[in-house]
Amino acid sequence: MKAELSANGTAPPLDGGSTYAPLSSVWERSDGELIEAMLAFYATIKPEPILDATYNAGRFWKGSARKVVSMDIDPRHQPMIVADNRVMAGVPSNKFGVVVYDPPHVGPQGRDKSVKRFDVDFGATMECGKGHGWSLSYLYPPFLEQAQRVLKPDGLLLAKITDMVNSHKSRWAHCDFMRMAEAAGFTVCDLIVKIRNGPMTSTKWKTAHHARKRHCFWIICRNGDCCERQLPAHRLL
Ligand SMILES: C[S@@+](CC[C@H](N)C(=O)[O-])C[C@H]1O[C@@H](n2cnc3c(N)ncnc32)[C@H](O)[C@@H]1O
Repeated sequence: MKAELSANGTAPPLDGGSTYAPLSSVWERSDGELIEAMLAFYATIKPEPILDATYNAGRFWKGSARKVVSMDIDPRHQPMIVADNRVMAGVPSNKFGVVVYDPPHVGPQGRDKSVKRFDVDFGATMECGKGHGWSLSYLYPPFLEQAQRVLKPDGLLLAKITDMVNSHKSRWAHCDFMRMAEAAGFTVCDLIVKIRNGPMTSTKWKTAHHARKRHCFWIICRNGDCCERQLPAHRLL
């Protein structure tokens, strides 16, 4: 019999009952649906309140009834908290059941490197030139430290990370993120490949040197030692 994933944000019961409800490592539907599936599959504590630390237009939450606290560095997106998620000034510690992170994965796209409307809408506003090793991974360690501070024990960090080609080389952001998350004290539980049905051609480039990316990664990290779902110690008493 095929078991359904719980849609209410709680993990399947851990009482040894018949609860085998697998989550595929490849996802072809929306981010919002995947977030719900991840909450149902991985959460061992109540997910809410949820902090979306890179809110932008809040596309993940359209049609969602989740209690989400929105944060963005750019006031034009009108988040509840205008803040740099590498500092999270004024945000209390030990507050959230889940932190969601969807950082920029490319730098400013204007030829002159000025920030255009497209960049604002898609969050391509942070520098990733020579001074940063042609990568945006420098954003991760200070964010990870803050995410760990504001998460409750056993809370989840769900990060959407996309690799990029920059200055003629592949930059493996998802590898950097997983290594940095482990170094920050998270347990990296899983990696889900999300596929999008985007166009394969581009008018921007004349020659293709790299495979055209039609995927990104969702990385699931737990603020605790357990990779697998286990009842937190205080619930075992
Ligand atoms: C890719 S967009 C996020 C899109 C969003 N998930 C959505 O569904 O609409 C990245 C966002 O991160 C924000 N951002 C970049 N660096 C940040 C930082 N240090 N602190 C907070 N927000 C940041 C950008 O302003 C941008 O709105």
